[in-house]
Amino acid sequence: MIRTQVAIIGAGPSGLLLSQLLHLHGIDNVVVERQSRGYVEGRIRAGVLEQGTVDLLIAAGVGARLLRERLVHDGFALGFDGRTFRVDLKGLTGNSVSVYGQTEVTKDLMDARVAAGAKLVFEAAEVALEGLDLARPTVRYRSEGRTHEISCDFVAGCDGYHGVSRRSVAPSAMQTFERVYPFGWLGILADVPPAAHELIYSNHSRGFALCSMRSPTRSRYYVQCGLDEKLQDWPDSRFWDELQRRMPADVANAMVTGPSIEKSIAPLRSFVVEPLRFGQLFLAGDAAHIVPPTGAKGLNLAAADVRVLYRAFVERYRTGNAGLLDRYSAECLRRIWMAERFSWWFTSTMHKFTEDAFAHRLQLAELDYLTGSTAALTSVAENYVGLPFESPA
Ligand code: APR
Ligand code: PHB
Repeated sequence: MIRTQVAIIGAGPSGLLLSQLLHLHGIDNVVVERQSRGYVEGRIRAGVLEQGTVDLLIAAGVGARLLRERLVHDGFALGFDGRTFRVDLKGLTGNSVSVYGQTEVTKDLMDARVAAGAKLVFEAAEVALEGLDLARPTVRYRSEGRTHEISCDFVAGCDGYHGVSRRSVAPSAMQTFERVYPFGWLGILADVPPAAHELIYSNHSRGFALCSMRSPTRSRYYVQCGLDEKLQDWPDSRFWDELQRRMPADVANAMVTGPSIEKSIAPLRSFVVEPLRFGQLFLAGDAAHIVPPTGAKGLNLAAADVRVLYRAFVERYRTGNAGLLDRYSAECLRRIWMAERFSWWFTSTMHKFTEDAFAHRLQLAELDYLTGSTAALTSVAENYVGLPFESPA
């Protein structure tokens, strides 16, 4: 039997960041992960960080490479009706965003945890949570052919949308809110220079497209695709052709193409569970909420949850006061729903839902209005850079 203060389920960015911050504040914790370390570090995910997330990663002691290698973007572009319009994030809000892959964030956190001698259990099978309504819950898992038990004060469910934590809660104890979008994102990674030095989100009658990047020599591109489409239907040549068709001509003509080094299709979903706390179990990150990637809020929302949760555990262990833990759910859900709204709005404005030409005209009118109104632009910029936090990192 392993005894600890906080058992963390999942070694994704939420679980590792929480583990690191608790460690820095002297709170013992164990991380239990179903996959191998290599698998966790190899996942390709998005890469736009709000300043609040950057501040928290710095406070967690994993900011050095991020600050060295990130691309700071003071704006992004909207493509529509054959033109591009730059949203001046810095000018409108005073804030920028950092382009730095989630894969790199996960690697930095993993390295820091391993260097600190953290208790990380990989390839844990049949993870089960018991006694969540008792003072000391138990986490059980199988590894190397035998069953292991962790006795803890609290369980942090950081195991993503498909994890065991939320599934360990009686459906009657929670309410879920979900919207599934009738399309996906086909994304590629390619070692070619980006089409532009800032991101371009494009609304087109053929569907949405996004030009993003990981570095000055590695690009990340996405096109909206049907949910029933298969990767084998999309050879690189067809991908580049479709991407260029959906981008304004000046961007398409400047685009350097090349072989893809990664290609995948991701579905789009909006999802929230309420509340986020069930007895001694606290859900954080994708275990509690999913946003469509359009607003680049996934990782930032996960970090925002961890920011509140680690401070609540620190207060509880330092002073015995569980006030912040009791307010965890309400505090996070406010920010979660605002990010859900922005991500839904951005997805609704930039994607093709039907062949309905009237609907597309409305989208174009929305973008035309938006790009002519400082008030509307400021609202978009504020949400994109990340809404302010009451407290420092
Ligand atoms: N037991 C143990 N670990 C599990 C289990 C389980 N039953 N189920 C899932 N996991 C692990 C997964 O293998 C994964 O490593 O939990 C981890 C969850 O990590 P993420 O899905 O990355 O979720 P989170 O850490 O909350 O990060 C959210 O990830 O998907 C992006 O856009 C999202 O950027 C956001 C970020
Ligand atoms: C990415 O770089 O993968 C990316 C960027 C912005 C998004 C989504 C994904 O909104």
